[in-house]
Amino acid sequence: MKFSKRSNQFGEGIFSKLLEIKNQKLADGEPIIDLSVGTPNIPPADHIIHAMCSAASDKNSYIYSISDLSELLEAVSLWYKNRYQVDLDPKTEVCSLLGTQEGFAYLSMTIVDEGDLVLVPDPCYPVFADGPRMAGAEIYYMPQKKENNYIVNLNDIPEEIARKAKFIIVSYPNNPTTSVAPDSFYNELIAFAKKYDIIVLHDNAYSELVFDNKVCGSFLSYSGAKDVGVEFNSLSKTYGLAGARVGFCVGNKDVVSRLKIFKSNLDYGMFLPIQKAAIAAISGDQSCVAETRNAYEKRRDILCDGFNRIGWEMKKPEATMFVWASIPPHYEKSIDFAMDMIKKAGVIVTPGSAFGPSGEGHVRIALVQDEEDIKKAIDAVDKSQILKK
Ligand SMILES: Cc1ncc(COP(=O)(O)O)c(C=O)c1O
Repeated sequence: MKFSKRSNQFGEGIFSKLLEIKNQKLADGEPIIDLSVGTPNIPPADHIIHAMCSAASDKNSYIYSISDLSELLEAVSLWYKNRYQVDLDPKTEVCSLLGTQEGFAYLSMTIVDEGDLVLVPDPCYPVFADGPRMAGAEIYYMPQKKENNYIVNLNDIPEEIARKAKFIIVSYPNNPTTSVAPDSFYNELIAFAKKYDIIVLHDNAYSELVFDNKVCGSFLSYSGAKDVGVEFNSLSKTYGLAGARVGFCVGNKDVVSRLKIFKSNLDYGMFLPIQKAAIAAISGDQSCVAETRNAYEKRRDILCDGFNRIGWEMKKPEATMFVWASIPPHYEKSIDFAMDMIKKAGVIVTPGSAFGPSGEGHVRIALVQDEEDIKKAIDAVDKSQILKK
């Protein structure tokens, strides 16, 4: 059999390797606390499940939906108006996605040709680089450095690179670094995109998981944003709908329309009960969002306070469902520390190197277990002695 060169670029990845060790440990009857993959364990609110179930029990729901219900597009437009003070034309500026993950691959295929250049933050959520790579693009990594609060510095991008680039991906609040960008960053980004004719793709997966009574908005609320790009928004974390696969691409109508046409050749639309659940989520009572945020904030406090107490220094993140922690100084590589965490403490975290070259020296800890399990993880790490030289 012969396979494409493109497919050679994609290995099984670190998560499969960690899963293999996890399964072995579980088979040996050893306890494991998994803080690696960002799969939320907070279920959707009852009214969202109810909307899904009631649509699922309707025999007419099993047709191809082909396109988004106008009710859904209007709900997204209203959600953006109420939550982010952004005006969106439901007909031309909103497109649903079967999870925003697929959007990165599809949008890449609509924008780049083989060999085109794409600007990607480093470290980053893996599909930011893999999506463009699937479309044949070359990646230029923009480091997110600690000294710049883990925000991309657009001034560091060489002129010839900026001229060549077709699109730029940015995402704040950020996974994995948890950083939040100031207003000045978005204004500079829009000016940069206009100057070099680059399409902006902002991923806003974590705007609702911002702690300590702070609030984050939308890239599209900045003046001129819609002229240069789009925003992805996901219901996975905000409403506990990760497995339902529902997200949106909103903003510039030329980009949205290309994406819609491309997608119409691949999928036949989102399952109608999921569209109904999405409508219930974004139009219904929003107290579930605050409850989810509070749950992650409490977990964050327990985890960071606990690890700091036993000698692993880490800063509390301002946002997201992750903690981005430096590895103890007696380790050189994040993969070695992550392996010791799982083998000696039974706690799974993700090595920072899995998120790109600048991720080395860190691990990402996902706040995806209940408070009791987080406390158990802290005890297990303490007992394992791996924080001591
Ligand atoms: C930054 C970021 N974007 C997108 C996603 C994926 O969202 P979805 O479930 O909508 O594909 C994640 C999931 O972890 C994420 O961290």
